[in-house]
Amino acid sequence: GLSIDISVGRHLNASSCKQLKEQYNTKDDGLYYLTSSSGTEYMTFCDMTTAGGGWTLVAGARENNMYGRCTVGDRWSSQQGNDINNPGGDGNWDNTNTFGTPEGATADDFKNPGYYDITAEDMSVWHVPNKALHPTWKSSSILRYHTDSKFFTQYGGNLYGLFKRYPVRYGIGQCNVNLGPSIPVKYDLGSPDTNKLFYGPNSRGEFQPGFITFRAINNERAAMAICSGVKPTGCNTEHYCIGGGGFWPEAGPRQCGDFASFDGEGYGTNLGWSASKEITEATVLLFYR
Ligand code: G3P
Ligand code: CA
Ligand code: CA
Ligand code: CA
Repeated sequence: GLSIDISVGRHLNASSCKQLKEQYNTKDDGLYYLTSSSGTEYMTFCDMTTAGGGWTLVAGARENNMYGRCTVGDRWSSQQGNDINNPGGDGNWDNTNTFGTPEGATADDFKNPGYYDITAEDMSVWHVPNKALHPTWKSSSILRYHTDSKFFTQYGGNLYGLFKRYPVRYGIGQCNVNLGPSIPVKYDLGSPDTNKLFYGPNSRGEFQPGFITFRAINNERAAMAICSGVKPTGCNTEHYCIGGGGFWPEAGPRQCGDFASFDGEGYGTNLGWSASKEITEATVLLFYR
């Protein structure tokens, strides 16, 4: 086991921020060491204040180059080009690969062992401007919300388990018929109304805000991992859902990438099918509790 480092005060033996909070009464947001069930030690960010605290940062997804269509940095879709022969893309939604650093989580993609190791009940999501430093993440964020229904208990205990059940893969099913779960959220910053405005006016016509949705499928059978803050009712999910498999047929390769087709009607224009510049240039930080 690990010893407690009194001088740092943060080297405690816990497998999640929830456990840190419950066993050590840790109260401050910040970076802490955790230990996975197989003994891997890693540092991550704990949100100890939102809705009772105990939230562990397990991943961050960002679009480093909207014009790079499934190129370097598109780890939550594919870094291998728009390819029908690679329908699952890089596969990071349901594998045990890890990458990035907690301090760099808004500067590059991030995924730690907690993603697959922590058995969680709920999720929290922050949209934080790219390159913001961690002490300012909460204050600079543009949208924050969490679930409180313990939905993970029905969906494999975490995102790793959920996406095993709902693979993020081109051709796995069809729009609406095979949509994954949509879970109602409570807003910690923003509201359903401010949430929907981050996406284009056309997109607003085919989703309902106030949910987080997993594994959306579009008209052309491309798969996307997370629709942040919304529940699709239509089939152009490439304009407001993130992550995905390795192939988007429509206008290939234009829709392939971590933020798919957020630039449908131009980069950051917030016209037609385009998302706003703010949401396009923010990292999606994913927390468990
Ligand atoms: O993704 C939008 C495209 O598939 C259809 O756009 O506006 O021509 O219906 P529109
Ligand atoms: Ca890209
Ligand atoms: Ca990325
Ligand atoms: Ca479309």
